[in-house]
Amino acid sequence: MYWVGAIDWGIRNFHGYQTAHGTTYNAYLVVADKVTLFDAVKAPFKWELLSRIASVIDPREIDFVISNHAEPDHSGCLFEVIDAVQPDKVFASTMGVKALKAHYHRDTEVVAVRDGETLDLGGLTATFLETRMLHWPDSMFTYLKEAKLLLSQDGFGMHLATSERFAEQIDDALLDLESSRYYANILAPYSAFVTKLFDRVDKLGIEIETIAPDHGPIWRAKGARILQQYRGWAKQKPTNKVIVVYDTMWNSTDLMARVIAEGVVAAGGKAELLPLGGNHRSDVAAAALTAGALVLGSPTLNGGILPGVADVLTYLKGLKHRNLVIGAVFGSYGWSGESLKILEAQLGEMGIESLGSVKANYVPGPDVLADSRTLGVKIAEALLARQAV
Ligand code: FEO
Repeated sequence: MYWVGAIDWGIRNFHGYQTAHGTTYNAYLVVADKVTLFDAVKAPFKWELLSRIASVIDPREIDFVISNHAEPDHSGCLFEVIDAVQPDKVFASTMGVKALKAHYHRDTEVVAVRDGETLDLGGLTATFLETRMLHWPDSMFTYLKEAKLLLSQDGFGMHLATSERFAEQIDDALLDLESSRYYANILAPYSAFVTKLFDRVDKLGIEIETIAPDHGPIWRAKGARILQQYRGWAKQKPTNKVIVVYDTMWNSTDLMARVIAEGVVAAGGKAELLPLGGNHRSDVAAAALTAGALVLGSPTLNGGILPGVADVLTYLKGLKHRNLVIGAVFGSYGWSGESLKILEAQLGEMGIESLGSVKANYVPGPDVLADSRTLGVKIAEALLARQAV
């Protein structure tokens, strides 16, 4: 198998997810009796894909093209590549056929493969595993039995542009940072499907020696590590970490956040402050993956909350981090003070139980700061009590 993908060193905004280290769009060329291309790349990188294929074989020798995922970062140039290489057949999942049609409105025949169906590549057996909603309805894995190799499209991927192709060439800290960030920002809402997938893989007794995702490095020696991490993240278990997410106008709400965090730590919990002046929504999502409580803060601005807080809440609600089980709200106000009610309602919409609120008129005085600390203590104690059960 040859990596024939593309490296996007410059991308920093992946539909709202801040990709600090760029990404790769991985495509794979499997040269068995039948030569097969797995996935394509984002449209502007078509020539990178085609030139990498041409460095291995004459692109016209490709027999099959298999689309494991229809999102445009993997299918953007798919039909142009098909036009160029003229494969005998193109395959996708049932939903993939529909998604490709809806994206590109082409008459090219794409053959739908069923879950569990196999395709003989000549010396290699490809088995298709539907992974609906991981993370699109069309998503599918392909398992190459004789090679014990799983082509996992977005699953087990990360947004990381590197010249190294294998996880064992990259530091663990960087792998953990970017793989957890990817899970938190892309796959978290579908955690129940991840757990079901593991149940299924365990039942089928599939042996996996290599995992080849559509983003980031290929997992060989460190494959067990990413599989174990996915099993853990998918459980969405609350930890004793409290994330305090807030924005501030004149530092009153910032001061309250710091004192709430002191209370959390004094009671034996962990606190991570995410002031939105210096944190992106995808930083908040990443921090939420390993937390148990969400504390939200905003001063009142024009009868509402600060726009940066609203941005993060819109994003976070969609990601459904079920491990965030309890929370609280806080903020300063001048003359009306609507922000706390708005934040409480947002916690409710996320299914997070609010343990209380603290507000300060203009600038927090000693009483408000004492209440802030007490609120931090209360949240940490509640989290620790849950863990002791
Ligand atoms: Fe990498 Fe869901 O596309």
